[in-house]
Amino acid sequence: MIIAIDGPAASGKGTIARALAAHLGLPHLDTGLLYRAVGAAALETGVAFEDTAALAALAAGLDPAGLDAEALKAGPVGEAASRVAAVPAVREKLLKLQKDFAGQPGGAVLDGRDIGTVIAPDAELKIFVTATPQARAERRYRELARRGEAVTFEQVLADIEMRDARDSGRASAPLMRAQDAVLFDNTGLDRDASIAAALALVADLA
Ligand code: C5P
Repeated sequence: MIIAIDGPAASGKGTIARALAAHLGLPHLDTGLLYRAVGAAALETGVAFEDTAALAALAAGLDPAGLDAEALKAGPVGEAASRVAAVPAVREKLLKLQKDFAGQPGGAVLDGRDIGTVIAPDAELKIFVTATPQARAERRYRELARRGEAVTFEQVLADIEMRDARDSGRASAPLMRAQDAVLFDNTGLDRDASIAAALALVADLA
């Protein structure tokens, strides 16, 4: 069984994906980490966001086994990730890896922006997770504050709105709900209620 979970930044899609994977005993891939790793590598090596060939080379050289999720979740990396993610050659280099993950025997849970539309269009269950920008910014702000990052709520909200616009507006695999995805707006739901609602969608499949 393949489960595709898509949605905008800080919608809680990662939390839901991890919970469903644990519940079903399936492997899970946070595909945002791949784009974050390319974005972080571009920042580290000084590759310009306009240099699409060099960005594609960074994507091609990525070692998915060695990704440090904690470091890659830091604030500035998200912005860099959404810039490199708009480059078609970068997306193409990361395609096979994600399709192979989705195609492993027994199935998998993947979360991202284009899982239901591009990576696993035949997934048995597709969930498009969303919440208002305000609610998502509050969650992300709390998370960054917990990590000790010095940001204001307004900065977090602005970052989220900019990423939403860039991810939805790009030509290549934009963020959008697959026609057959269940729309799940979890504004006002806490983590546990959100997970419970997603588990109920899986139970409905049986
Ligand atoms: O999900 P996360 O916020 O970690 O993703 C970081 C960025 O990576 C997103 O803003 C988006 O631009 C990009 N991304 C993507 N396609 C995916 C997953 C992430 O374009 N499947």
